[in-house]
Amino acid sequence: MDSVSNPYTPNAGASPETIAGRDEQRDAFTALLKRLARGKTNQSLIITGLRGVGKTVLLNEFREIAEAERWEVLEIEASKHDDTRFRQNLAGLLKAAVLRLSPRARWTDRARRAASVITAFAVAVDHQGTWSLSWDVEAAEGAADHGDLAMDLTDVLVAVGEFAREQQRGVAILVDEVQFLTSPQLEALIQAIHKTVQRKLPVTFVGAGLPQIAELAGDAKSYAERLFQFPKIDSLREADARKALVEPALAEGVSYEDDAVRLALQITRGYPYFIQELGSQVWAISEGSPILRRDVEAAREAYEAKLDSSFFRVRLDRATPLQTAYMRAMAELGPEAQKAADVARVMGRESTQLGPTRAELINMGLLYTPEHGYAAFTVPDFDKFMLRAVPKLVVPDVEKRRKKSR
Ligand SMILES: Nc1ncnc2c1ncn2[C@@H]1O[C@H](COP(=O)(O)OP(=O)(O)OP(=O)(O)O)[C@@H](O)[C@H]1O
Ligand SMILES: [Mg+2]
Repeated sequence: MDSVSNPYTPNAGASPETIAGRDEQRDAFTALLKRLARGKTNQSLIITGLRGVGKTVLLNEFREIAEAERWEVLEIEASKHDDTRFRQNLAGLLKAAVLRLSPRARWTDRARRAASVITAFAVAVDHQGTWSLSWDVEAAEGAADHGDLAMDLTDVLVAVGEFAREQQRGVAILVDEVQFLTSPQLEALIQAIHKTVQRKLPVTFVGAGLPQIAELAGDAKSYAERLFQFPKIDSLREADARKALVEPALAEGVSYEDDAVRLALQITRGYPYFIQELGSQVWAISEGSPILRRDVEAAREAYEAKLDSSFFRVRLDRATPLQTAYMRAMAELGPEAQKAADVARVMGRESTQLGPTRAELINMGLLYTPEHGYAAFTVPDFDKFMLRAVPKLVVPDVEKRRKKSR
């Protein structure tokens, strides 16, 4: 069928025609904002899930919900920036939020206070003054200038929160890829939100990221578990997966034969990204409504080739030979989480020798640790891809590599 009318969205963060199966998370977010707006406390949310399950799409939904509730939204995609960049980025976003909350001509004392604390927060980055927020607001004294990210962020969110409350508005900080925040950054956000919750201010931090975040947050601050819920999103249940596949086509006046849907759900196992990619390939091949089982069969090869050459391949291309061997050895053991010692055994090495490699892969967001001593792929079906892409396990000499890099 016509590619112009293709209703599927197989791209990272692209909002699908139908957002299936995420009502619970949307309701939780709406309730969070409503409670905070009334001066009540509520656990905030950090959504966790594997690659391609729809975390970014859900955060975009949250942005729309927040805007409809007249909250100011600050969006951040964490990317291992140093703390200076992080601070500058936040200061710029907070400045814009304050200006949107109220134009300068109508600033109250609280507005001026929030603005001057933001300036102090930004100035504390760089005492040479080579970076500025470029607004002519003097820095507050004794606030957000401790030179400690957590203390400074706390001051700034309290000041902005008090101003927002005065305006009967709120401020939501949405952070994607939370696992790429440095630990001081994550710790600072948690500590600052701890304070705004105590003060019952309409400020929140909602995040999304890979499954190890709950653990990272717990390591950052022991009270993180009381401040946040960590809802996990995953592949869609059958009825939702069906909706995700069928509804976009229906909106274009195209239906599916039941058998075609069954096969598509079997192939994609309900993973949102896989559904979009298969739907898109089926659309390209099919000749019209209804879409038949044989259309799905015919599209399958193109679908798998597309996943291999993009979704999976980009992850493998970033890996060194030793990292590749590690993932290949894991794949050999199967799709479940694997013990470090078992992976080392398959590679004919000691697990202590491979500790750094495993840590690098976790750091790159390719693996996560569902429980102590275990690692699993963050990408669904990555084990099967590794077996296809690297038919034979080749383990580079760990010792030699070390000598070389000396
Ligand atoms: N609830 C949903 N129903 C149908 N399709 C969805 C849903 N959520 C996401 N998608 C589709 O799935 C794909 C992946 O979504 P998204 O980029 O939000 O995932 P992600 O979890 O952020 O992945 P990553 O960890 O790689 O950033 C996109 O093509 C999107 O259109
Ligand atoms: Mg994402």
